[in-house]
Amino acid sequence: MRNTEQSTVIAPSLLAADFAHLADEAARVSEEVDWLHVDVMDNHFVPNLTLGPPVVQALRASTDVPLDCHLMIDDPAQWAVGYAELGAYNVSFHAEATDDPVTIAKNLRAAGTKAGLAIDRDTPVDSYLDILPEFDTLLIMTIKAGFGGQKFMPELLDKVALARRHAKSGHLDLRIEVDGGISADTIEQAATAGADAFVAGTAVYGASDPAAAARRLRQQADAARQPSTDNPATNER
Ligand code: DX5
Ligand code: ZN
Repeated sequence: MRNTEQSTVIAPSLLAADFAHLADEAARVSEEVDWLHVDVMDNHFVPNLTLGPPVVQALRASTDVPLDCHLMIDDPAQWAVGYAELGAYNVSFHAEATDDPVTIAKNLRAAGTKAGLAIDRDTPVDSYLDILPEFDTLLIMTIKAGFGGQKFMPELLDKVALARRHAKSGHLDLRIEVDGGISADTIEQAATAGADAFVAGTAVYGASDPAAAARRLRQQADAARQPSTDNPATNER
């Protein structure tokens, strides 16, 4: 189901999981979550190095939860479609890493995946509003991309609010995803600003019961968002 009034998406970030047991870590939350957020870092776009296509391929084979690949890499024009071809549900690449985001988005959609545009901490969203119809997802960082466990920056929610207003007035079918420092203390603010997809690494995998933590985050987000009466929130896969 994808409507302008969309159900809440909870996307635990595997960056905070045990990388030696990724399939098990995915299984721990699979009943409670909508997407698994996979942070791809190349040690160039950000000063951190995580994983790439072989790990995404292995994850795809080991879980039914849709994979939400967040590419923090240089040259997404070269690499992004490969993640679509591996079966990622959504592929988000960074606006700062390309001069031609629209072509990449078209190629992602043509390869059968959702196209996401990611906006890092220091990048205004204004100049990207006009190209949002080319995208399914707008990922707004609520930290500086590169590492988990950082402190949420509430001032970055102004970008979420602006993008949500723009999407509403243009009747765009756009997910707005927030990433960085999302927890029980911050998810309500993000939801109120207009986010409808929530990445949480530390708040889920740092909890003693990750599934329960994800469930609680969903309850908080659902309560903070303004549900439409003719289209009640339901869990979406
Ligand atoms: C950081 C990543 C995030 C990270 C979030 O650049 O994009 O997805 O895992 O981690 P937390 O939820 O701990 O801030
Ligand atoms: Zn991420």
